[in-house]
Amino acid sequence: MAVNLRGKSYLKLLDFTPAEIRYLLDLSKDFKSMKRSGVPHKYLDGKNIVLLFEKTSTRTRCSFEVAGRDLGMGVTYLDPGSSQMGKKESIPDTARVLGRMYDGIEYRGYSQQLVEELAKYSGVPVWNGLTDQFHPTQMLADLLTIEEKLGRLKGVNFTYMGDARNNMGNSLMIGAAKMGMDFVGLAPKELFPSKELVDEMKEVAKTTGATITLTENIDDVKGADVIYTDVWVSMGEEDQFAERIKLLEPYRVNAEMMAKTDNPDCIFLHCLPSFHDLETAVGRDIHEKFGLTEMEVSDEVFRSPASKVFDEAENRMHTIKAVMVATIGRQ
Ligand code: CP
Ligand code: NVA
Repeated sequence: MAVNLRGKSYLKLLDFTPAEIRYLLDLSKDFKSMKRSGVPHKYLDGKNIVLLFEKTSTRTRCSFEVAGRDLGMGVTYLDPGSSQMGKKESIPDTARVLGRMYDGIEYRGYSQQLVEELAKYSGVPVWNGLTDQFHPTQMLADLLTIEEKLGRLKGVNFTYMGDARNNMGNSLMIGAAKMGMDFVGLAPKELFPSKELVDEMKEVAKTTGATITLTENIDDVKGADVIYTDVWVSMGEEDQFAERIKLLEPYRVNAEMMAKTDNPDCIFLHCLPSFHDLETAVGRDIHEKFGLTEMEVSDEVFRSPASKVFDEAENRMHTIKAVMVATIGRQ
């Protein structure tokens, strides 16, 4: 059956079928090759989008801005300090106003419920640029990168290490389940995803050939084709560094961990930003307080040939184009 996503919001990967995800990945490849060869692609000429950010961002904001302009659209950026949203105006009223002016709305913030509300009341497609629970636009970039590097998704041993119950852990488990991958969540029990989501993904896995494993044992990294990690402390949880460091130190992705995979072709991915050296203010602060020079990934692995993190970052822009064209373009 033909895929038609026109008018649909992109709030979480759970809402999309494997065929729809496949369609978005293939469309992303088209946009990547057009960008690379300098072929203009103003498919959304004359439309306008607004980007709402309640949390900071480099990749997501820039991807939406450049993608929007490459597609011929007008782009407005609003940060929480410069709009009435949530302070003097409710979310439903904000959504209704923005829906009168814009063809699509991107939102990054804390609450998944809020992004769902924006979609409910605006009447235009809303794209989730990250909430505490999910990061669905990142998923397409990650899947595209894996497919580019390994030539397939099905049957790939995808090992996620670290905070497996954050927006990335949740979303990657969903992506892997939907696309038939072998997902291994390697984390301390306290940081496993919710049982409800794991059970739901195990059901999805039965239909796609995926497998879902949650384990605390770092020896289970053996056989990984991809090791993925994310920050130990997500935006909004900055008071939890001490506890997380204690829980997650054994799960740092370093050269020993890469060697434990027993797979010389294993690649390393990270959504970024990452704490792998002392070149950031937060990194230096953590160094002062806890004596660490690197957190979730060693500088050695981050800079190694196995690390594909900058290809992955570039893919944010190509995949976001696909999401916007699929949902607000002509079919
Ligand atoms: N990966 C990602 O979402 O990066 P930003 O926080 O810079 O947008
Ligand atoms: N888990 C991270 C992802 C950043 C892209 C955070 O929410 O801060």
